[in-house]
Amino acid sequence: MSLKIKVERTSAPKQKPATSQLGFGKYFTDHMFMMDYDTGEGWHHPRIIPYQSIPMDPAAKVFHYGQTVFEGMKAYKTPDGRVLMFRPYKNLQRLNRSNTRLSIPSLDEGLIMEALKQLIKIDEDWIPNELGTSLYIRPFVISTQPTLGVSPSEKYHFMIILSPVGSYYEEGINPVSIYVESEYVRAVAGGVGNAKTGGNYAAGLKAQQEATEKGYSQVLWLDGVHRKYIEEVGSMNVFFKIGNKVITPALNGSILDGVTRDSVIRVLKHWNIEVEEKMISIDELVEAYRVGTLEEAFGTGTAAVISPIGELNWQGDKLTLNGGRTGPIASKVYDFMTGVQRGTVEDPFGWIEK
Ligand code: COI
Repeated sequence: MSLKIKVERTSAPKQKPATSQLGFGKYFTDHMFMMDYDTGEGWHHPRIIPYQSIPMDPAAKVFHYGQTVFEGMKAYKTPDGRVLMFRPYKNLQRLNRSNTRLSIPSLDEGLIMEALKQLIKIDEDWIPNELGTSLYIRPFVISTQPTLGVSPSEKYHFMIILSPVGSYYEEGINPVSIYVESEYVRAVAGGVGNAKTGGNYAAGLKAQQEATEKGYSQVLWLDGVHRKYIEEVGSMNVFFKIGNKVITPALNGSILDGVTRDSVIRVLKHWNIEVEEKMISIDELVEAYRVGTLEEAFGTGTAAVISPIGELNWQGDKLTLNGGRTGPIASKVYDFMTGVQRGTVEDPFGWIEK
């Protein structure tokens, strides 16, 4: 790391929200990190500044062609007041993989880690410490060159904003209901499905809106080619306990390579639970339900943590999982992961960064 990070502190700290008001991503801390890119100069001018709006030219490429990427990570406060991050380097590596896919210049992961640590230290008082709360970290890049030609931008901003959060879903840690989507698709292999870019989420909104109108929290996406293999849920990867195995869709280029997904696979293997990453079709899932071997399902994600799935709706048929209650594996994994993240359970994998 060679660039020095300038720090300008706010003179008008904001009122912090009560824990009961948190929800997800509604409040932002007093400071943010920002850095700029210009062709020829590279990434430069790293700075921590008061949280603020930024002036933008209406012709900036991000508004028109969506050349942008983001990450989602979290910092936790332990009951004895230490601040921990969970596998932050994994997220920064993925940020650079997304950058490469979107033709955005790579970031120096060491510099970003240093910026993150300084920023979190400055806004440390914003980190809630009740179980189920954390400081959500949103690093992102936007293309700012004000020209309408379709080409990689020559100018970017990289920013990190921080948000104290509670649970992502209104259901909290209670099971969510998911609508299996058969009309729209999210991504195809070769596209940008495995990059963390806004367009993937924009592409999912219509289906999500229709599912919400039917009373479901999110949609479960099927693959865009055969329209039958399970991919992921709107904001999380997905796991199924079928017989004596836990199955999760294999990474195929259109599924997001989740950090929580990878961690859960490793935890289950550590507990000698058989885990299989494979293509699994909706027909196979429905058949397992019919014969009674589909015992439980849950989603995993930084925002969603471990979210048990209580019901799946497939073309009008309602599949109730584990009697609509949180299953034993989801519950055990939730306790372990949140314990490691909050420093109350030993971390056998070396995932925690102080
Ligand atoms: C995360 O889990 O951090 C995500 O990025 C999902 C998000 C779209 C809420």
